[in-house]
Amino acid sequence: MTTILSAQPIVGPKTAILKEKAQRLKALGIIPKMRVIIVGENPASLVYVNIKEKTCKKIGCDFELLRLPEDVTRELFLSEVQKMNEDPSVHGCFVQLPVPPQLRDIDVTSLIAAQKDIDGFGVQSIVDMYKGKDPFFMPCTPKGILELIKNNDIELSGKNVTVIGRSLIVGKPISLLLQNRGATVTMCHSQTKNLEEHTRNSDIIISAVGSPKFLKQTHFKDNKSQVLIDVGISRDQSGMLAGDIDFEKVKDQVKAITPVPGGIGPLTVISLMENLINAAEKISKGK
Ligand code: GUN
Repeated sequence: MTTILSAQPIVGPKTAILKEKAQRLKALGIIPKMRVIIVGENPASLVYVNIKEKTCKKIGCDFELLRLPEDVTRELFLSEVQKMNEDPSVHGCFVQLPVPPQLRDIDVTSLIAAQKDIDGFGVQSIVDMYKGKDPFFMPCTPKGILELIKNNDIELSGKNVTVIGRSLIVGKPISLLLQNRGATVTMCHSQTKNLEEHTRNSDIIISAVGSPKFLKQTHFKDNKSQVLIDVGISRDQSGMLAGDIDFEKVKDQVKAITPVPGGIGPLTVISLMENLINAAEKISKGK
């Protein structure tokens, strides 16, 4: 039997713990607050931010969204980020990516105040991971992937892992975190030749590409030995949500696989909430 690696057994208990922590902070007069800046009308960004808002409210945290127009000036954008950084009522904040072309040469993730960087994309988190340490704010999708791996007793030390994708959000940080845990990591991406050679020779494959069903049966062994973690979420030709892996065709030939949706997505959001509560607790202790 293939194991379906679902988020739900992890998200349920974590939600309960976070609710309790939010209550405790409330008793001290602190309501953890997340503020998000979103620029323009990117439909996927609006969906993601909506899920973050709902989760904040469910856990008992405040949420504020600042929507800026697609053609916002650099000056206004930068001044709004600064305001968010300096607002003492905000415990965790970020700019939802991507931003429109006129802002693309700005190093947006480095603008966020280090003590509020709940996305974990800033320099402090990167340096910690690079040096072999878990950062205070671990990037949320990699944090979710590691939770899923731990919760399912999947060994990392000495294992061969192929990561497909080299983004700041998933590919690069998860590669570092896995290496730090003793895995032998191969980083692949859109220009990798003979991808199948890498995927077929790995114990674990993590895909973060965002191209529906581009990993097929031939990319994997047929002996129920591999673990597949699918971070991609996009729409196929019929408009249905799909992962990078052709789940229905591949699932019976592997040891374990994440569904899309319902695999990594909810773990990313709960990881963001953990980072928010940790930020608020740290600020409340004046550390
Ligand atoms: N765009 C897609 N995923 C993310 C994320 O995790 N954080 C931010 N800030 N933007 C994103």
